[in-house]
Amino acid sequence: MRDANPQTIYLKDYSVPEYLIHEVDLNFDLGEEHTVVVARLTLQRNPQSQSPNQELTLMGEDLNLLGVELDGTALHAQQYVQTDTSLTIHQAPQDGIFVLKIENSINPKANTAFEGLYQSSTMLCTQCEAEGFRKITYFLDRPDVMSRFKTTLVADKDKYPVLLSNGNKVEQGELAGNRHWVSWEDPFAKPCYLFALVAGQLECIEDRFVTMSGREISLQIYVEAHDVDKCDHAMQSLKNAMRWDEEVYGREYDLDLYMIVAVGHFNMGAMENKGLNIFNTKFVLARPDTATDSDYEHIEGVIGHEYFHNWSGNRVTCRDWFQLSLKEGFTVFRDQQFSGDRASKAVKRIEDVNMLRARQFAEDAGPLAHPIRPEAYIEINNFYTLTVYEKGAEVVRMLHTLLGGEGFRKGCDLYFQRHDGQAVTCDDFVSAMEDANGRDLTQFRRWYSQAGTPQLNVEQHYDAESGQLELTLRQHCPDTPGQTDKPPLHIPVKIGLLNSRGQVELIKLDGRPPVEETVLELTEAEQSFALSGLAEQPTVSWLRGFSAPVIVKMQRSLEELAFLLSYDSDTFNRWEASQQLAGQVIADLIADIQQGRELTLNPVIVEAYTKLLEQQWDDLSYFSLLLALPDESYLASQMDVIDVDAIHQAREFVKKSLAERLQAHFLRLYRENHREESGQFDAGAIGRRRIKNTCLHYLSTLETGDSQSLSLRQFEGAANMTDQMASLSAIVNSRHPAKQACLEQFYRQWQDEDLVIDKWFALQASSHWPGTFAKVQQLLQHSAFDMKNPNRVRSLVGAFSQANPVHFHARDGSGYHFLADQVIALDKLNPQVASRMVTALTQWRRYDDERQQLMKAVLQRIIDTEAISTDVFETASKSLA
Ligand code: PHE
Ligand code: ZN
Repeated sequence: MRDANPQTIYLKDYSVPEYLIHEVDLNFDLGEEHTVVVARLTLQRNPQSQSPNQELTLMGEDLNLLGVELDGTALHAQQYVQTDTSLTIHQAPQDGIFVLKIENSINPKANTAFEGLYQSSTMLCTQCEAEGFRKITYFLDRPDVMSRFKTTLVADKDKYPVLLSNGNKVEQGELAGNRHWVSWEDPFAKPCYLFALVAGQLECIEDRFVTMSGREISLQIYVEAHDVDKCDHAMQSLKNAMRWDEEVYGREYDLDLYMIVAVGHFNMGAMENKGLNIFNTKFVLARPDTATDSDYEHIEGVIGHEYFHNWSGNRVTCRDWFQLSLKEGFTVFRDQQFSGDRASKAVKRIEDVNMLRARQFAEDAGPLAHPIRPEAYIEINNFYTLTVYEKGAEVVRMLHTLLGGEGFRKGCDLYFQRHDGQAVTCDDFVSAMEDANGRDLTQFRRWYSQAGTPQLNVEQHYDAESGQLELTLRQHCPDTPGQTDKPPLHIPVKIGLLNSRGQVELIKLDGRPPVEETVLELTEAEQSFALSGLAEQPTVSWLRGFSAPVIVKMQRSLEELAFLLSYDSDTFNRWEASQQLAGQVIADLIADIQQGRELTLNPVIVEAYTKLLEQQWDDLSYFSLLLALPDESYLASQMDVIDVDAIHQAREFVKKSLAERLQAHFLRLYRENHREESGQFDAGAIGRRRIKNTCLHYLSTLETGDSQSLSLRQFEGAANMTDQMASLSAIVNSRHPAKQACLEQFYRQWQDEDLVIDKWFALQASSHWPGTFAKVQQLLQHSAFDMKNPNRVRSLVGAFSQANPVHFHARDGSGYHFLADQVIALDKLNPQVASRMVTALTQWRRYDDERQQLMKAVLQRIIDTEAISTDVFETASKSLA
């Protein structure tokens, strides 16, 4: 709970640790309500420390101290001092190595914050990133203290038959009283945030992987017995990730064993603990009848992400938590590349950018904006943000674009070679890129310290006589909290040209050989580039592949967008044209709604869609994306004052009108691609399901007997979760007579599968249909709702507040009050998850006055709540600032 005066930590205050811990020998006597921890730490004063301080201060929280020994002698109470958050040993040895033995007890069952050692159903497990290890024992809980860990677990044989920790199993044995013990040793020095243990009744699925140098690695996935039939995809994904990292980055796995454990209670997605990843069940378990295609893709991505951390995060780790993007931005970039290589590059890029623009751009434009390397925080858990992760990945991607694939790889090789076994900074990463490529990235480094999304104004001027096209680019980065008048960034702008027939026009720049595509390096606030040898004025395809996380400001006519949608050879920009075209049509309708005018659909979009529907497509997933209207959240980001109702009404109008005009096409495509198949996870089948369900979605807006029976038939015949969810979603978001019956049937069918029941909650909570708020309140009372389970909270409270703009932003403020009530209740159990829920209120400035007042009032109510956590306090108070 919150100190009277929450402390801010600053990057500028960093200093090296005063002591080092070389070895850690841990002994756990495990019990759900009483676990005894004995830690033997081998320490030494850090020769690099300049501090005159002769005390050793260890961090610790919620610990019950039982005893301290220094080099074998028990310390008496005058020799150390304890606070709520620390243990200070007076007169710690200044020379040579010494051993501190600390004994303490903890209560895993009482730990509902899921940081440190906690219980999830019948198992015990840990979560130590960022600062959870201090809830296990007193320690120098900071990532630049790296130690070799040996861990012994002692427990009841029946309750905890499986005992796991990092590294290799070295010894085990039996004890009296039906107890047993297992010892683990991790040969790699690591920061304590990578420590993990798991104890429980777990089944294990095993496989093996032979590395590029011929070593055999044993792969194990641990789950509860009823989930053993849902691990195949995770295991296959792991093997794919291991191979991919060898092929693309030359990185080989280092231990002989790789373990993954799936737990039902987890604050985040997954955790890369050395040799023992702990995963939210959501990112492990999948069977075609329980998981959708998008779940399958997410599992592959997250398994890859955690595996890639073994190099980008574990072998080379972060010096301090301000450097979080060093491991997260880089690893997200790596998992994006991996997923793109596995399936469709085009689709993956679009999905990533779509998320970035709808959510990270909002973060970057709001009161919580911060650079990818923040300069200050109160609670580090609040900085696992879209900015650090997703914008961080974009920054790494820009390095890849600027240096080229080969140059980037050389930089990575140098980075890993130079810093293996070290805790380093974002700056070290950029330096390796510079040194390996002989490039100066001084200006590029500003991306690490500057918050906000830069805006790019682009202009073109064609001179027919000289055949020259002058491109002028201007950049501007808006002010963000604490940052004004920012200097220009180094921005890679990838472009291509199209002639009037839609063909590629070659780019001739600065006398270099003509090319189909080029990267303009914008480094000034305003800069021009002259392209020569152009017989006619070409159309410029700007920012191909979304080569930088910026907003391009330019006016294009609907005709020009339709032209790009037909002909741009860049798959990203082709999709972008579809989004802008639909976006403009919807924006005009929003204005009509606000002016009380009658609505008519602009025929340009019907023509564009007709053209798309008449073509043959190989990549059906990509085709589906071209037919998808921009999300409400993206449309909202385009408005000065967000009008949730008008956005929703206009978008629904376009959806329904398109369905009416293009009904025959949608029905034909639906029929061509509909199979009642049990769900193969291959690109062909995924694409068929995706396009079919896109069509179903359009058709269901018609609310005719035919369209209703189409979705009902699909629901009843569905043999895979993708089809079942898509049809249920169509039913729930329309006036379908079988709505209640289908929801009940779905619940009965899946009541024993937690992850499917999460979907059932989320679908109802995000429904735009009238009456949703009352439904959400009922669901809160449902016997399957559990405030202690983060996945369940996210699927009800999270989905309602983050994925249901019309109802969450109800004019009367009921949605805001509901959220505040839930945040306050949840904060007593789990401050970290509660704090995330607050972010739904952060964007209050973007709404009309009345809503602003209502949102501000509930934020204030949250802040004024007695004993609110520092997590929630920081998010709510910074949101209001
Ligand atoms: N480091 C985890 C990742 O792979 C995220 C995480 C952070 C998990 C904190 C738990 C706690 O991104
Ligand atoms: Zn990560």
